[in-house]
Amino acid sequence: MKMYENVIDAIGNTPLVRLSLDSPAKLYAKLEYLNPGGSIKDRSALHMIEYAEKNGLLEKGGTIIDASSGNHGIAVAMIGALKGYKVIITVSEKISKEKLDSIRAYGAEVVMCPPTSFIEDYDNYHATAVRLQKATPNSFMPNQYFNVENAEGHYKSLGTEIWRQTEGKITHFFAGAGTGGTVSGAGKYLKEQNPNIKVLAIDSNNSLYSTKGNPKPYKVEGIGIDFVSPVLNHSVIDEIIPVTDDNALGTIKNLANNHGILAGPSSGAVASAALEYCKNLKEGDLAVCIFGDSGRAYLTKNFY
Ligand SMILES: Cc1ncc(COP(=O)(O)O)c(C=O)c1O
Repeated sequence: MKMYENVIDAIGNTPLVRLSLDSPAKLYAKLEYLNPGGSIKDRSALHMIEYAEKNGLLEKGGTIIDASSGNHGIAVAMIGALKGYKVIITVSEKISKEKLDSIRAYGAEVVMCPPTSFIEDYDNYHATAVRLQKATPNSFMPNQYFNVENAEGHYKSLGTEIWRQTEGKITHFFAGAGTGGTVSGAGKYLKEQNPNIKVLAIDSNNSLYSTKGNPKPYKVEGIGIDFVSPVLNHSVIDEIIPVTDDNALGTIKNLANNHGILAGPSSGAVASAALEYCKNLKEGDLAVCIFGDSGRAYLTKNFY
């Protein structure tokens, strides 16, 4: 077993675990909840923060401010604690208690914002973070929703790792899209290695994108394409698959009860789409789906 000098060196190298399938294809779940901060977001947050340090955007003693559905905030709070930055995270009231308490447990400050339909709305958590950052001296906003370095973090970390782990045999890649960083970054790397790999993005059926501009509330946290951003790179995505709350939440129960995997709702959405899609795959196909965080972060929501 490798020894690490600090918690951020332990980010990545998560396992791929096979899910039993009624299909000749193989499906593996990448357990991103085994990252030190508990989610996929450790990878992108680390890259955006270190990119800012290298490019003089974030200075010693500075404050990091960003909006988050929870996991990016946890990752930034964890990294900020280690590196000595003050951290302020704006969140929407939809956030689970466990994620909220985790951000605070690392010593970060939280600003709670009401849920809004559009990212441009004055009270929206992203709009609030933008205003806060402008008003705070020596501060930096990773700006995960609009910063293409978000996807670049997954290109360098997640994409290379999956390619290595599957020894180049991956044929299908399923990942949830919130900012779109995961699916776009890792998807771009995988397509560059083999253009035949299919990249599938999973969305909430109630998002701005999937409702064609008439978003409705949904329960799944972390995914849902609710704005237009350069982070979501349509040129590497073959299909965007909408999933209902009922299917996502039904699937997390199935994963816990029948596969022994306690994953969060976005993983349920991704697995629901992947399990359905894999029914039509053939012998030799190897699909990887991303499990972004753990069900432990949602126990008080009684989804299970
Ligand atoms: C649990 C979980 N899954 C998936 C995602 C979506 O990742 P991305 O923002 O890279 O599209 C997020 C983002 O916050 C998340 O928290």
